[in-house]
Amino acid sequence: MENYTPSSYGDTMAGVFDFLNADAEENERTVDFLSAEAGGKYILEPCVGTGRIAIPLARAGYTVHGIEVSTAMAEQLRSKPGGDLVEVLVGDMLTAEPPLRYDLVYLLQNGLGNLLSEKEQVEYLRRVVGQLRPGGRLVLESWEPEPERFVDNQYVETSLLDANYVVLSAAQLDPGEQVISQQSIMISNHGIQLYPVRFRYFDVDQLDSMAALAGLSLLHRYSAWDRAPYTEKGRSISVYVAA
Ligand SMILES: C[S@@+](CC[C@H](N)C(=O)[O-])C[C@H]1O[C@@H](n2cnc3c(N)ncnc32)[C@H](O)[C@@H]1O
Repeated sequence: MENYTPSSYGDTMAGVFDFLNADAEENERTVDFLSAEAGGKYILEPCVGTGRIAIPLARAGYTVHGIEVSTAMAEQLRSKPGGDLVEVLVGDMLTAEPPLRYDLVYLLQNGLGNLLSEKEQVEYLRRVVGQLRPGGRLVLESWEPEPERFVDNQYVETSLLDANYVVLSAAQLDPGEQVISQQSIMISNHGIQLYPVRFRYFDVDQLDSMAALAGLSLLHRYSAWDRAPYTEKGRSISVYVAA
């Protein structure tokens, strides 16, 4: 996907992201979990998107800063009720300089995977260590892909289907780089829209190794925001503290 840039996903998804992530109970459990992990008032969300979680945390009284590479996503956040409560830096999480040190830094929905090499992911984790207050925590939500979905390192599947639209997903896997490139293709009577995404995946052992290189050690790992135990490959929610 040669023409993909860090802002491609956000620029195309900004108008539909909240519609696709409207599970109020899940969002509430996420906020509750993060509140319980924040030992203090200062919170940073890199890849903050539309503020789905950052805005409720700010409403709960935390000082919440966000980093967001897509101007369209940042504008979406700012236009929402409570959006003015979150200070957003528009820029790349790998280079942005947030103004404080934080009690909690959290990355949702495979946020670390937005960096497309192991080198960048470790470099980023090192930056986080420098952004945490003593005893501060890093929470990372990630997913391991299901290898059986890929045949000859690719798949096409029907993601959503209704009488007036269909969403197809077409993906390619680079197993060496551990990078997946995907287009979600929405076809409706209004035309065709493309929603591209690229991310680098990792398993939890690889994640722990990268975290250790950055000076982070694992405190807890769960499979869901209600703290269900992590037992098998799939979604992981990992809590780290600077070693
Ligand atoms: C899947 S969305 C998640 C948004 C938000 N964290 C949430 O859970 O509601 C990922 C967001 O990360 C942003 N993003 C991607 N790469 C980034 C980068 N290198 N630096 C900062 N933001 C980035 C995208 O523009 C998008 O808004």
